[in-house]
Amino acid sequence: MPAIARSEPFHSSGPCPLGVCDGSGWILGPEDVARPCECRAERLNRGKSRGISSVIPPRYRGVSFDRPPVSDMARDLQTKGAVSEVRAFVENLDERLEEGRGLWLFGDTGTGKTTLAMLISKAALEAGKTVAIYSLPKLLARIRRTYDSEPGGDSYLSFFERLTSVDLLHIDDLGAEKRSDWVLEQLYALVNERYETQRSVLITTNLGHEELEEQIGPRTVSRLNQICDEVAVHGDDRRYGKYRKAA
Ligand SMILES: Nc1ncnc2c1ncn2[C@@H]1O[C@H](COP(=O)(O)OP(=O)(O)OP(=O)(O)O)[C@@H](O)[C@H]1O
Ligand SMILES: [Mg+2]
Ligand SMILES: [Zn+2]
Repeated sequence: MPAIARSEPFHSSGPCPLGVCDGSGWILGPEDVARPCECRAERLNRGKSRGISSVIPPRYRGVSFDRPPVSDMARDLQTKGAVSEVRAFVENLDERLEEGRGLWLFGDTGTGKTTLAMLISKAALEAGKTVAIYSLPKLLARIRRTYDSEPGGDSYLSFFERLTSVDLLHIDDLGAEKRSDWVLEQLYALVNERYETQRSVLITTNLGHEELEEQIGPRTVSRLNQICDEVAVHGDDRRYGKYRKAA
């Protein structure tokens, strides 16, 4: 039975980011034998990403190559290419993150982009990497909050530093925020810093290149374009799948 070493710098606060254990980092089996939860490696790393959201949203927690919808996507002609690219990324995770390579998943609404991106973040968390997971609107709201923080609190600078230093920065729904100078500046600063320090960025977006340039600025898009491999996720809006079949 593995002893639970209390002296480890283990940050047990908060729920399990994978929704598996009770938040302790251990799964209690029969006869009180504890085995480590896959969130454990990531939690041991928490110090580096304190205050950063690295939680897979409940809807996407169960994502796996072996289960629908991803197993279905792997058979569908329109999405099998995207699934193989995501699989290759996961299989070479250490290397890709080391090189600061990321993925840029684009396609129409409801084609499975967020699902595939969460699969990558989940694999990274399970491998003990630090991952920041935000939708763009949430990320901007979080940055705004740091402006209101009290002295000695969570300053903008320390939050920004943590965002730029995590192993993987996952931004969902890029371009889904109204553009303003402030938004453009924040995004540019973040992407540029990760670009310069060669750290991976993972994004999903509904927008094509030109629209995205329009929305978040050509300098940011140009950097993302260089550090990310583009993956097109084609198909119909799967959120309507059930109804179409029934019709
Ligand atoms: N190929 C698929 N087959 C069946 N269901 C799927 C497929 N892809 C995604 N789904 C389901 O459809 C819904 C939408 O998937 P997801 O959120 O990944 O889409 P998205 O491309 O990120 O959409 P949006 O552009 O609106 O953000 C989810 O409930 C997901 O489980
Ligand atoms: Mg999405
Ligand atoms: Zn856990």
